[in-house]
Amino acid sequence: MTSAMNSQSKILQSRAFLHGGPADLFGTGFTTSPAWNLLADSWNDLKQDEYMADGGTYRYRRYSEFQVDSTDRSVTVLPHVPYRQSREYNPLNGGIDRWYRAIREDIQKNSAFQDALLSCIDVLAPLQPRSRWTVKVFQNRIFAKAGEVGKPTPEGVHRDGCDFVLSLLIKRHNIVGGESSVYSSDGEQVEASVMLKDGGDFLFLDDQRTKHCVQPIARLVPVDEGYRDMLIAMFAP
Ligand SMILES: [Fe+2]
Repeated sequence: MTSAMNSQSKILQSRAFLHGGPADLFGTGFTTSPAWNLLADSWNDLKQDEYMADGGTYRYRRYSEFQVDSTDRSVTVLPHVPYRQSREYNPLNGGIDRWYRAIREDIQKNSAFQDALLSCIDVLAPLQPRSRWTVKVFQNRIFAKAGEVGKPTPEGVHRDGCDFVLSLLIKRHNIVGGESSVYSSDGEQVEASVMLKDGGDFLFLDDQRTKHCVQPIARLVPVDEGYRDMLIAMFAP
């Protein structure tokens, strides 16, 4: 483990969240590698979320679950299952089985994708005495459509119901808004508000000790397509 990772572990322990650019967590060159370009391009191949209780047509996604092990540095896809979130954590869309297309096989094996997950469990290693994590992963694209606001978190201030959650920006395209806020565990106090601007910018949250929310997005140039691409990875034992 590098000293940079050690310092990130300390910050995560004391502050309950990390925020930074790609070099802070994933190493230099992370977002300039061919693997990153292939990973980012796969956001053009997501499917519309049909489970939006607000009737929105602005969210596209894929979903798979993985087992990530720091001992042998393996990232193994688990059998495809629906995403299920209790209504306690998501009153809007929770409480039902939501079936999404699986993350593509080439992306499951993509080295930038696997490195992102492994980097997170490296940060957790000094804090949690386990080498193996179950990780629920979403590829999300939120469109800012003409006449429809794009809501990255339609459920409002919330927690995801896991132990730790990575929000990794892949790309912002022709949008304004989308600022991320980290709240205290009761959701009453804003601990930080940050903008994930460039690919590789991230938030890594202790989901037990924080809540979070992302502001809506709108098009910058109204006649052109606008969207925000995110990788969300939820870590639990
Ligand atoms: Fe969330």
